[in-house]
This record gives sequence, structure tokens and C-alpha cells, in this order.
Amino acid sequence: MKRRKRSSRWPPGPTPLPLLGNLLLLDIKNPHKSVQDLEKKFGPVFFLQIGWRNMVILSGFKMIKETLGQKPEEFIDRPSIPLMKLLKRGKNCEGIGFAQCSNGWKEQRRFFVSLLKNFTMGKKTLEERVSGEAGYLCSEFKSKEGSPFDPQNLLCRAVGNILCSLAFGDRFEYSDNTFLKLMHVIEEFLKEVTRNLPQFIDTGSWWLSLFSGPHHKLQKQYGNISIILKEMVNEHKKTRDPTFPRDLIDAFLDEMDKAKGKPDSSFNEQNLINILIDVTVAGTETSSSTLLWGLLSMVNHPEVQKRVQEEIDEQIGRVRSPMIEDQLKLPYTCAVIHEIQRYADVLPFANPYMVHRDTEIGKFVIPKETVVLLHLSSVLKDETVWEKPHEFYPEHFLDADGHFVKREAFLPFSLG
Ligand code: HEM
Repeated sequence: MKRRKRSSRWPPGPTPLPLLGNLLLLDIKNPHKSVQDLEKKFGPVFFLQIGWRNMVILSGFKMIKETLGQKPEEFIDRPSIPLMKLLKRGKNCEGIGFAQCSNGWKEQRRFFVSLLKNFTMGKKTLEERVSGEAGYLCSEFKSKEGSPFDPQNLLCRAVGNILCSLAFGDRFEYSDNTFLKLMHVIEEFLKEVTRNLPQFIDTGSWWLSLFSGPHHKLQKQYGNISIILKEMVNEHKKTRDPTFPRDLIDAFLDEMDKAKGKPDSSFNEQNLINILIDVTVAGTETSSSTLLWGLLSMVNHPEVQKRVQEEIDEQIGRVRSPMIEDQLKLPYTCAVIHEIQRYADVLPFANPYMVHRDTEIGKFVIPKETVVLLHLSSVLKDETVWEKPHEFYPEHFLDADGHFVKREAFLPFSLG
């Protein structure tokens, strides 16, 4: 990458070292904390150099809302992450979460959103599947008969099963060997990614790929996940009925049929594997950690738990499960769910964006090809927005009459 001389209008930031840039400033175990410290020093827009890569971090609700609200078109593309190439992600085959626009992101985003909105997988809607899985989870909890247990694994399996329903058409028994193997390899992969996050931003560049390191382990784990998924795709090919797609794999295979003869299409088999990995990895840990925070919040705030239970008992009773359409009748419960997500703050950063041209942000200019990271935690805990940012306080989402209120700074999923 060509280096440009720093302009006086570039955002402030720490002085970079040759070759490593500011890499050593990031606490590998807790990059989010390092970013918080740098924010205090340099303000809501600051510049970092990680290896050879220029990076700008945006923080706080006002800055993020203003920037992305005013120039959304500048912030849709993703940077090319060299590590992705080591993980069999290349031309028209970059999955979805880190895919560049030129490599099928829009096509895949449209496919996935429409799948979530419209697809009744087999005979059941997604909502029915979620509700059914909640039933299995509660039965597992009940089977413990009041004795202490760690719910983390069960929550992971329940969430993983919903994603399996979406991707593979059916849930698994919690003790199923293939399922346990898949959950295990995904967990190991994620641990490895989070353990080495700052290095991975530039790993795979020509100079780092010469050395052995965590990226090689990651490659192996990715291969292990792919083997399991490829078997499932092959099974689907044998049993599918193109007039009746059962799940994401069938719907994707249909799109592959339609894309025959279009070499630039991102509907190809390697991309199917990458999409399956993106969806399972993106969904499992985020959702199960949020649920875990939910349980913890209820244990720590029994008065809140009591009010939620009373509202549900009063409005729905104990015979049927709550459904999405019940939300309007459950303002306090809705406020508590939102507050759990805000307080849990499970994903401190959105996926990185990249600007294609010099872009103005307030009084600063962000140079072309800079990676832009949104610090979502700084929005969910923004002291200028939330009354009690560091406390669990469901009233953040209630008005004086106890009605549920949406808050603009509730951005756990970012702005897109
Ligand atoms: C509490 C749960 C979740 C949280 C907090 C969360 C948060 C996020 C965030 C912050 C992003 C990055 C958005 C951006 O960079 O613009 C993202 C992307 C994504 N998430 Fe989630 N997510 C959750 C659950 C899920 C689930 C259950 C699925 C799968 C069904 C999923 C699939 C995805 C995908 C495919 C992307 C990439 C989207 C794109 O690049 O267009 N997420 N998520």
C-alpha cells in the first residue's frame, strides 16, 4: 500500500512505530479497553496505524449517527482483510460479514435478509422454530430439578439449533454427535479469532504470512468446520426438491442453478460454505452471550424479574408461549429485553468499513482506503445519552407513563 504524508486535517492519534504502527498500544486480551483509553486522550475520531493499515475509530452516538447518517454511501464497503484469503475467501466468494461490494456483498445481503423475512422453512416459520427451541431449553433447565448448573453450554446449543434450523432445515438433539462437533469447532474458531484479533487485522499480508502463527491454527479450524458443512451440503444435493426449498442450503442451491453461466455470480459452492460459517459464527456467540447476560440480570435484579413475570402472566398467561405480536402488550418486558442488550454490549465494534475516497468527518478528512471502525460500546454506554449508562436500568426504555420508548442510541446491531 502506498503511504501518504499525514495531512493537517487527518484526525489525531498516537505516533506510529515503523512496521508495527500502533499495534503495541492495543491490549491483545482487551482491545476494547485500549480503544476506550485512546478515546479519552484523542476524542471521538482518532487515527491508528495497525501494521501498514490506516484506521480511524469513531465513537459516541453523536459522531457515529452524524457520520453514517449523513454519508451512508461512504460506509458500505469492507476492507480487504488478507487473512480472509487464507480462509478460502476470494473473488466472488467472500461470504457476507466481511465481503466487499465488488465481491457479491449486496447479492448475498439481499439473499440473506429475504430468507429471514420470507422463508417458512419446511412447514414452520422462523418464529415457531424459535419458540419450539425455547421449549426444549426450558425442559433441559427443568430436568436439573433445582440443582446448580452452568447454563452457558445449553444456551449455546439452543441458539445454535435455531441457526441449524435456518441453515440445515432441522434442529439436532442436544446430545447429537455431529451437532456437538460443529458447536465445538465453531467455539474453538471464535476463541482463536478473539484471542488474536489485533494481529488478524493485518495477518496474511505478505510479510506476516511468512511466519508461523495463530493464523495457521485458524486455517486448520476453518478447514474442520468446512468439512462438516460440506457433508451437509452434499446430503442436501441428494435429497432436495427444487420446488420446495427446506432451508438456507436448498435456497442457495436454487440460486446456484439460476446463476449457471454467470461467472461473476457469488452463488457458488465455496461461497455457500463461507456464508454458512458466517451465519453460524455471527449468530451463535452474540445471541447466546446476550441470553446469558439476560439470566444474570434477572438473578441480580429479582424485583425486575418479578415485574416481568407478572406482566407476562397477566397478558399472556402460562398456557401458551409469547409471540412477536404480543410485544405491544408487554412494554415493561420489552424495555427489560432492550436494556439487557444495551447493558450486555456483546459486540464492542461493528465489522470494519473502508472509505473509497478522502471523506470529511466534521473538521477532519479521512484519507482514501482508510479502515473505519465504529465503537458500538461507546454508543450503548454513552454518558451524554443514557441516564445511567453503567447500570442496569430498564427505565431507559420507558416513558413516564410506563410505555415502551425506542431510543436512537440503541445500536447493538450498528446502523445498517
Ligand atoms: C444479540 C445478537 C446479535 C448482535 C448483537 C449482532 C450484532 C451484529 C453487528 C454489530 C454486526 C455488524 C454490522 C455492521 O458492520 O454493519 C452484525 C453483522 C451480521 N450479523 Fe449479527 N448480531 C446478532 C445476532 C445475529 C444472528 C442471530 C445472526 C444470524 C441469523 C446474525 C447474522 C449477522 C450477519 C450475516 C452479519 C453480516 C451482515 C452484513 O455484513 O451485511 N447476527 N451483527
